[in-house]
Amino acid sequence: MDNNGITLGYNANMTNIKNAVYPINGGKEMVVPVGHKILLSGDTHGDPRRFANQKVRVFCGDEYPSHAIILGDFGLIWSTLINDPYEKHWIKWLDEKPWITLATLGNHENYERIYQLPLVDLYGGKAYKVSDKVYILQHGHVFTIEGKKFFNFGGAVSIDKARRQNRVSWWEEENPTNADFYRGDESLRKVNYNVDYVISHTAPQKAIDYFQHKLPFGNLSKEDDMYYELKKQDPAVHMLSAFLENGLAFRKWYFGHFHITDSFEVEDRQYQVMYENFTTI
Ligand SMILES: [Fe+2]
Repeated sequence: MDNNGITLGYNANMTNIKNAVYPINGGKEMVVPVGHKILLSGDTHGDPRRFANQKVRVFCGDEYPSHAIILGDFGLIWSTLINDPYEKHWIKWLDEKPWITLATLGNHENYERIYQLPLVDLYGGKAYKVSDKVYILQHGHVFTIEGKKFFNFGGAVSIDKARRQNRVSWWEEENPTNADFYRGDESLRKVNYNVDYVISHTAPQKAIDYFQHKLPFGNLSKEDDMYYELKKQDPAVHMLSAFLENGLAFRKWYFGHFHITDSFEVEDRQYQVMYENFTTI
């Protein structure tokens, strides 16, 4: 069932679903094709309801995307319980979508559980398999999706970690390691540091500097100001900046984490920071 109580007619177990069929207007069936679009959105924090079929279909112009990418803080592997009923419900809900859901790693994730999931080959890289149609992308791989190369590098510092409990609501693995960085460097060298898109949770320093100046700090409290300062002191930011300094070329860099939405250009490079909004490639 989607959010409108419509029973979906497609077979979610088929691996190559071309069309999703669902009844509308008193039982009349409408065929919604699955196209080649890739849908992107920001942090979901364990609540994926924005991906309701109708919302996605309308946004994508009466078709479904082949893939949906969440730019970190997916948050659906979060509980310390392996069989948490809330998580099982929503993962099944995503598993029944006609598209494949991919998530980059954020800072609000249960890394202990994620790193125990099977690490599988996916689109030229590696990903943690959550279910048949939901995958969490490992840092530092170039994934080829719909013929486009995506460099993925997640992770970020939780600025609220002082209020969180170690191994219950905060995991130090939120910081990518040197091994993650070297994996990324090796993957990028294989494609001459040239990809179509970059996906990450936080952003390189130059991008953060851009919206830090753009934000109306005069209207924000000192605490908010500190919030952006803290997000700059982040190993993931330094690693992303290093890839950029190494000459990483891309058409557009998409990221989440900051809970704001904006598209902008820095030094002739295009960036988009996303939150609850959608965009397609
Ligand atoms: Fe977040």
